Amino acid sequence: MPSKVIRLMRDSKNAYPPQKAKKQNSKKVPWVDVSDDERDDRRRKTPLGVKANGHQPNGHPHPHSHHHQREQEGRNHKRHKKARHSMGTGAGLVEEWSTAGPSGSNGTAAALQEQRRNLPIAKGREALIQEIRNNDVTVLLGETGSGKTTQVPQYILESGLARTGMIAVTQPRRVAATSLAARVAAEKNEPSVGRLVGYAVRFDERAGAQTRIKYMTDGMIVRELLSDPLLSRYSVVVVDEAHERTLRTDLLLTNLKTIQRTRNGAGKDEAGTGKGKGKAENPLKIVIMSATLDAEKFSKFFNNAKILYVKGRQHPVKIYYSSEGQTDYVDSAMRTFFQVHTDQPPGDVLIFLPGQEDIESLEKSIKLFANQLPKDEMEVLICPMYAAQAPGQNAKVFAPTPSNSRKCILSTNIAETSITIPGVKYVIDTGMCKEKRYLARDTGGGFDTLLTKAITKSSAMQRAGRAGREGMGACFRLYTEDAFNNMALAPEPEIMRCSLTSSILQLKCLNQNLEELDLMDMPDVDSISSALKTLWLLDAINPNRELTPLGLQMALFPLEPIHARAVLASRENGCTLEVLDIISVLSASSKLFVDITEQRETAAEARRMFTHPSSDHLTILNAVRAYGEIVAGSAGKAARKDWCRKHFLNERTLLEASEIRVQLRQTCGRMGIDWKISCGDKEEPVVKSLAYGLAQNSAFLQPDGSYKQTMGQSVVKIHPSSVLCEKKVPAIVYDELIFTNQIYARGVSSVPKTVFAGIGALNRRIA
Ligand SMILES: Nc1ncnc2c1ncn2[C@@H]1O[C@H](COP(=O)(O)OP(=O)(O)O)[C@@H](O)[C@H]1O
Ligand SMILES: [Mg+2]
Repeated sequence: MPSKVIRLMRDSKNAYPPQKAKKQNSKKVPWVDVSDDERDDRRRKTPLGVKANGHQPNGHPHPHSHHHQREQEGRNHKRHKKARHSMGTGAGLVEEWSTAGPSGSNGTAAALQEQRRNLPIAKGREALIQEIRNNDVTVLLGETGSGKTTQVPQYILESGLARTGMIAVTQPRRVAATSLAARVAAEKNEPSVGRLVGYAVRFDERAGAQTRIKYMTDGMIVRELLSDPLLSRYSVVVVDEAHERTLRTDLLLTNLKTIQRTRNGAGKDEAGTGKGKGKAENPLKIVIMSATLDAEKFSKFFNNAKILYVKGRQHPVKIYYSSEGQTDYVDSAMRTFFQVHTDQPPGDVLIFLPGQEDIESLEKSIKLFANQLPKDEMEVLICPMYAAQAPGQNAKVFAPTPSNSRKCILSTNIAETSITIPGVKYVIDTGMCKEKRYLARDTGGGFDTLLTKAITKSSAMQRAGRAGREGMGACFRLYTEDAFNNMALAPEPEIMRCSLTSSILQLKCLNQNLEELDLMDMPDVDSISSALKTLWLLDAINPNRELTPLGLQMALFPLEPIHARAVLASRENGCTLEVLDIISVLSASSKLFVDITEQRETAAEARRMFTHPSSDHLTILNAVRAYGEIVAGSAGKAARKDWCRKHFLNERTLLEASEIRVQLRQTCGRMGIDWKISCGDKEEPVVKSLAYGLAQNSAFLQPDGSYKQTMGQSVVKIHPSSVLCEKKVPAIVYDELIFTNQIYARGVSSVPKTVFAGIGALNRRIA
């Protein structure tokens, strides 16, 4: 394959002076330097100088335009998982880089304190504390790397603003919460995480009686409302990365508003100026933070709360655009990586890709070509990073890079905000991400699916920011400057595009009705009624939309309501052990069965020993048991891995599932459900329990041999990866629908039709 170079250029407005390229280098010059920042820095005031509300320090052209966001799906081309066979050679960056290495990795206490003092936010420390002291709600904007997430909670603690309570710092993602807690604990010179500084994420918590600063996912704090509706343990709640507008963040903001009114006694303050009353016993302070935020909107939501701005980012990042649109972002990312690797001084590379599949495909191609590099080149150390990874895998990402190698981190947008990966100097941004979207609610029981689409400006800025955390860096955008300019400003709030079932159930437990809440953005009526319908089918609410005792129990599980329902049904059916085995796999972030279209037959053959003839769920159970035996035996780590590979099983899923299972067993224990109850080799109790949860995902065989949904009008086919594919059984339940040219049901089990007779709501519906 001829070498092909990705041409990247600076923006058109600021023409770069003609390259004084080394004449002896006759090759094309692919990269052109652009100035550090696409935003307008000149309008900025002094640190924390922004007092006027409505000021838009980021210079975003249309602060409210994210309602008009455009989806750019056109660039999402179908690709194969094969390694690619082209790469850039010898095409150099013209720019000579200062070889000053990353400065931040020195972990000694003195060095850490010195680093803290040098952060842009440090200059504004006193002003910031003063503003937080004087205001109930503060909106804080500051560029990525200015020190918001790590410093603000410490300032609040050190200044006594939290009194004797805790400071919660919410994050949309778990790796952010855990890695930030580790960093701040180190800055506080703590021997370990979980003492003064702790974290709480789903299925993992490290915090104790001494904990004062707690980094937690937004989901965890929303869940905490169930046991502590006023969040009375927290004196300050810092809502970080609020621009992401996750569903949980939105629900948190709504609740914080009312909690603050109750705790601070703002009822008397008709004007709602948000000024502290001083009288309340346990007042709550709220700080909203982000680097890219529609600050005005947040401020308005909180009665015109004060907007503060931290000036300056720590280090400049040079931005490069590709000169033309890239059709295959995985291939472009690979070629760009090698251009950086062969031409650039040491410094790790962080590549943003939409999902795990792309990451695996890029990993293969990079490995393939890295092996062909001359022996004297730096070694390439690849570290994938995505949510579904086995616990502990992320540690590799954060570990120091060995000398004479270059770390290449392949990440989804979980590395996009909040975190600092030491050593990263170069970011390659494919411009694509996966976004959750709620589909097909009119086919009866909609569901969330992940779509690959173009990122937003706010993501692009956050991604670029990852290159300038410890020193100056560069960001290579694999899209044109025009494409950047056409990107939507910020993602559409998740509440507008996701399934609301789980949230509505949680709110019901708080005696709240979503449709009556004061939300920043209101979801549409259809998605609310679809969620209510699901909850009713699950017997979580009664026909008057009131929470049932069963619904309350379902909410206590850290599970999707449909899965929680199956676990509760297993209690009656005497098969909790089996159902937990299955549900923990279904709750893991990736699929257990590796499904590659071309290898389906081989995989089916390899898995024959645990294939159940009429149930993908029982096949999962058999696989979990078989793996359990391998683990219990003397097989070492490598042997286990090999065993999984041979049987086309995703070991990561099994490892994650076993952690989840531990948590679920604990939850059962707390609720007085005996998880050890087993039905032995009986199958019907298990399938029956699952059917209680999946009732809305059911279909009956029609006389013409097709399956028709019980809750919708669609005809569904059984997915080719299912053990039931091509088989005809009277009734099925399934985990999900896949939309291609047909509607496919995936994760299918045959269920005796009589089971449905026992499901009250469904019956009433069919009747
Ligand atoms: N885990 C870490 N390792 C090394 N440096 C870090 C780490 N976390 C934070 N830092 C340093 O602290 C700076 C500020 O981080 P942070 O408070 O997360 O900024 P912000 O929230 O404003 O983006 C980073 O730019 C980096 O220099
Ligand atoms: Mg941050």
